[in-house]
Amino acid sequence: MRVLLLTHTFNSLSQRFWVELTEAGHEVSVELDINDAVTIEAVELYRPDLIVAPYLRRAIPARVWRKHRCIVIHPGVVGDRGPSALDWAILDGEPTWGVTALQANEVMDGGNVWASAEFPMREAKKSSLYRNEVTEAAVRCLHQVLQRAGEPGFVPRPLDYADPAVSGRPRPRMAQRDRCIDWAADDTATVLRKLRGADGSPGVLDQLFEQSLYLFDAHPEDELRGEAGALVARRDGALCRATRDGAVWIGHVRDRATAQGRAFKLPATVRFRDQVRDLPEVPLVPWEGVGRRTYQEIRYRERAGVGYLSFDFYNGAAGTEQCERLLAAYRHARSRPVRVLVLLGGADFWCNGIHLNLIEHAASPADESWRNINAIDDVAREILLTDDKLVIAALRGNAGAGGAFLALAADLVYAREGVILNPHYKSMGNLYGSEYWTYLLPARVGEERAHALMQERLPVSARREHELGLLDECLEGDVAGFEAAVERRAAEHAGGTKLARLIDAKRERRAREEARKPLEAYRSEELQRMHLNFYGFDPSYHVARYNFVHKVPHSRTPNHLAIHRRLGWARRDEAVGR
Ligand code: COA
Repeated sequence: MRVLLLTHTFNSLSQRFWVELTEAGHEVSVELDINDAVTIEAVELYRPDLIVAPYLRRAIPARVWRKHRCIVIHPGVVGDRGPSALDWAILDGEPTWGVTALQANEVMDGGNVWASAEFPMREAKKSSLYRNEVTEAAVRCLHQVLQRAGEPGFVPRPLDYADPAVSGRPRPRMAQRDRCIDWAADDTATVLRKLRGADGSPGVLDQLFEQSLYLFDAHPEDELRGEAGALVARRDGALCRATRDGAVWIGHVRDRATAQGRAFKLPATVRFRDQVRDLPEVPLVPWEGVGRRTYQEIRYRERAGVGYLSFDFYNGAAGTEQCERLLAAYRHARSRPVRVLVLLGGADFWCNGIHLNLIEHAASPADESWRNINAIDDVAREILLTDDKLVIAALRGNAGAGGAFLALAADLVYAREGVILNPHYKSMGNLYGSEYWTYLLPARVGEERAHALMQERLPVSARREHELGLLDECLEGDVAGFEAAVERRAAEHAGGTKLARLIDAKRERRAREEARKPLEAYRSEELQRMHLNFYGFDPSYHVARYNFVHKVPHSRTPNHLAIHRRLGWARRDEAVGR
């Protein structure tokens, strides 16, 4: 089938749909929803058999849905309608939730039902539920839709509120007054629900240091206490705020938009660098606090002869100081008497490379880019030079740009089946990239494929990466199932007879490769190119980063996604008589 993905941005769900459709043998093109005229033009150019809208913020033009079958993915149970579906589900404490695939008509989210799927809710941020449970349920819906689209007798079910199986209902857009925290009255569970239901957008409007701004990235705290609403401590980038019966951590904040434009998210202690100085700092080293419910980005634990290092950086963005802390934690793990180390990254994103928001915020973004890339390179180098342990990167969540290459520094790379990788940098203003990718990528997939991956700038599924040799294993299941499978494999390696041989072989390989071309040569060649990106005459990287961080809306769909807009498309189409 020829499928057009119509989407607000090419976000994680749209990327997952793109790989699912492509791998199922369909021809897929993408159009970003810019305005009605552009959408109509795209549909006329492409003449799709099916239009799928995984993530839209506006209605599909009537001229499109009247002529074409358009399936809209709604992150709510059957009958639920409105733009705040997940937000209400979290705030209301729904035990189960779902995704519905509807055929677009004149009623927003009110069309006939093609498919639906449900899942148990988890105590988690909206963005985390979206990237995990919602995405998996949406993919199940997508496959049902594809199957049903091929069944001549299939008739989608009209939405009937009299049907007892229809549990949802129309809900309004959630307003800030619905999310508003009453620090004196709300208990910790309520505060967490409000904050989680607003992550990563729009955040909860609140006040800190007499400044009105949005709060994100909430974590429970099990020990610290104080007067309700008072700030009681800081740790790394986050602030701890007391509730009436406990406390929560707030990792990130965003200022309100001004006439000068929209602000962007920053770690709370960076935004209030001067004001937080008097707050008590309560550091927690990665290897302490196991089992605690508190804010701890980097955690290290051991089990059955295996060390597990997780680094759950918000949105997978690894800033300079975070990389420095990660390096220190990694060195600690290296010093431990374990023979296998598992790098778990973050639960939602394994890692997305250098921290573009912190770079944008810096007095000199070029200098901060330079510090940050060197700091992440230092982590990659330390992993590459680990010659007495087997290092496994276990990707529970997606990884992009430098984050994807950091994972390749490990000896073995495992990924959960639903994971999407974006192993390329070019979309960020032709950034050349570092993290030793020029050493790591060709070694895994060969020069030709490495070049193609870098130039194509497309998402790749874990399944496909495994076939290509970029990953060593692609494991089925949800995050918990994946973690259990990784633990089993890591323990088998640790207790197995082959471990010493594996480690010897890797030490010999590294020595051979070092003699052929030193690691430092790869790094310095990459950094020369990065220096040009940061300090050279071409400002593309700085412009692309500004647009990314400020979420400047797209003015057109990039040609590498919109195949219908490529030169010659119409002519080719004419030739095959469509
Ligand atoms: N630095 C800062 N923030 C980042 C980031 C980074 N490197 N990568 C992702 N984010 C943020 C996004 O701004 C977004 O923020 P929000 O919570 O305010 O919406 C959030 O993470 C999720 O990103 P999004 O783009 O919506 O996720 P996705 O799964 O759809 O796409 C990527 C993932 C990796 C393809 C995309 O985020 C990306 O291109 N990131 C930049 C990667 C990069 O160029 N890194 C620098 C070079 S090493």
